[in-house]
Amino acid sequence: MNSTEGAPPEVIPARLLHGQKALVTGANSGIGRATAIGLARAGADVVVNYVADRTAAQEVVDEIASLGVRAAAYEADVSQEDQVVAMMDRMVQEFGTIDILVANAGLQRDAGLTEMTLDQWQKVLDVNLTGQFLCAREATKEFRRRGVVPEVSRSAGKIICMSSVHQLIPWAGHVNYAASKGGVLMMMQTLAQELAPEGIRVNAVAPGAIRTPINRAAWETPEATEELLQLIPYDRVGEPEDIARVVVALASDLMDYVVGTTLYVDGGMTLFPGFATGG
Ligand code: BGC
Repeated sequence: MNSTEGAPPEVIPARLLHGQKALVTGANSGIGRATAIGLARAGADVVVNYVADRTAAQEVVDEIASLGVRAAAYEADVSQEDQVVAMMDRMVQEFGTIDILVANAGLQRDAGLTEMTLDQWQKVLDVNLTGQFLCAREATKEFRRRGVVPEVSRSAGKIICMSSVHQLIPWAGHVNYAASKGGVLMMMQTLAQELAPEGIRVNAVAPGAIRTPINRAAWETPEATEELLQLIPYDRVGEPEDIARVVVALASDLMDYVVGTTLYVDGGMTLFPGFATGG
């Protein structure tokens, strides 16, 4: 591995998101967890959504509270309309409003085409795509109700969709996942177009291979890591904090003119590294 091994040190400006209220779905582990903590480091109050593992969600809340901002763990399955509506209502009641939605919750149910059950297909579409739709819809209602508060942010609200390099890169054996992320791309762009005139910024972050439980098999042995690195020009596996920093920046007014864009955060995975020596 090259000298870039390991994530760079924390460099999140402490008051960048001061006074903002953020909801991160699927925030009890992986990228969601790091993002919730990153937003808190930047001064935001954070709702940590989870669907299973209350203990892990509470640990994230405790870590955030130790940073001197507010946090709470809300249980909700993002694919269930009533649960998303209830979660947003509760956030508005308890935190006053929402300024930043990070629609992060996602999962994989891998299988080759003829082995894939309808349940596996549906579950991934329900959580990864419908879940983002429901959260975006409910957050937008509150953004609209509240409007722009200039002391807090230049925009009326920010939605950040957690996508994947697989919104672009086809992925054999994962048709449900790739289709869900392809859907996220077009959903994000359509919502960005629809909501920009109201001052609501919608964007996506597309991680590559990040060291989290979702892809443990791809990095947990030296052999697997070596194979994975063939796909990553920057020659290191990503860390959740690599994504968290980008989400924080994208959610802030530093990126106020960024609308409808996907930021690929993938160490160059989308550069088709096989073509470096072939083609
Ligand atoms: C998937 C991971 C995978 C990565 C790169 C992500 O979206 O969830 O399992 O390692 O893309 O292929």
